[in-house]
Amino acid sequence: MSSCFTISLSLLFFFINFVGTESAPTFLRHYCPNATLFTPNSIYQSNLNILLSSLSSAATDSADGFANAVVGQNPPDQVYGLFLCRGDVDSATCSNCVATGKQDILQRCPNRRVSVIWYDECMLRYSDGSIHSVMEQMPSITMYHTRKITNPTQFMQVLRETVDDITARASVGKSGKKLAVAEASFTSLQKLYTLAQCTPDLTVLECNTCLRATIAGLPRGKQGGRLFTPSCSMRFELYPFYNASAMAVLVPPPSFLRSPPAPVTRRKGTCLFLIFVLC
Ligand SMILES: *[C@@H]1O[C@H](CO)[C@@H](O)[C@H](O)[C@H]1NC(C)=O
Ligand SMILES: *[C@@H]1O[C@H](CO)[C@@H](O)[C@H](O)[C@H]1NC(C)=O
Repeated sequence: MSSCFTISLSLLFFFINFVGTESAPTFLRHYCPNATLFTPNSIYQSNLNILLSSLSSAATDSADGFANAVVGQNPPDQVYGLFLCRGDVDSATCSNCVATGKQDILQRCPNRRVSVIWYDECMLRYSDGSIHSVMEQMPSITMYHTRKITNPTQFMQVLRETVDDITARASVGKSGKKLAVAEASFTSLQKLYTLAQCTPDLTVLECNTCLRATIAGLPRGKQGGRLFTPSCSMRFELYPFYNASAMAVLVPPPSFLRSPPAPVTRRKGTCLFLIFVLC
């Protein structure tokens, strides 16, 4: 009884946190090659601190959810950095994510000259070489939903058509964002939600190339999955994981894909209900 109560309580906090506005960003992965380290208290380190602060403050009023910066006069002390927020998140979420990343990246990647950190809401990276307008496809990280799809052949066909569509649309993305989402019918009951995004400093061709490579690496036979690199990312799920109303304002979807928004709130209610029934 008491353990059930404890579990209920922590789940309750989880849901309160989940619906709250300023929740912590969801950490996904980090990448920091071991090969090149900087000396503690070096000029590189102080330039890196200045760079991260400047990116973090740029995130507080970034309409595009993207900024890049460089600090230092000459190599090897020069540090280049950028961040990209997921295209549908609001500026408070974006800024909160970059601020968290600024602290987190130094802890997860101590003394590294090159690092990348990914969250659900944003990506933050820095390097001792120029990274602005440079397509970077490595590392390429895959994550997937453990649940299998029941009819994989039909699913892959819908997925293929949808990711082709969003790849084309994200590549030509205007107004500072290279981003596209799509909602496609999989079965009469299930919908497939997909999102593709590139850093907006890439050319149309580079963004297209980057996303094409992610399509090839997407997990197969799973209900959801994502693949991300420093320059682009692709994700698919059988539930709406992006803010469709924010996307509608940014980029109106083609009319044939338009459909009423899914009832997200109902699921939370059901979960809470189940917790108390279990006790
Ligand atoms: C990174 O380098 C340190 C020091 O050389 C070493 O102890 C550690 O095992 C390395 N880690 C990896 C993942 O290679
Ligand atoms: C979704 O986007 C709309 C429009 O930008 C915004 O008003 C709303 O608060 C967002 N919802 C969430 C859950 O972020």
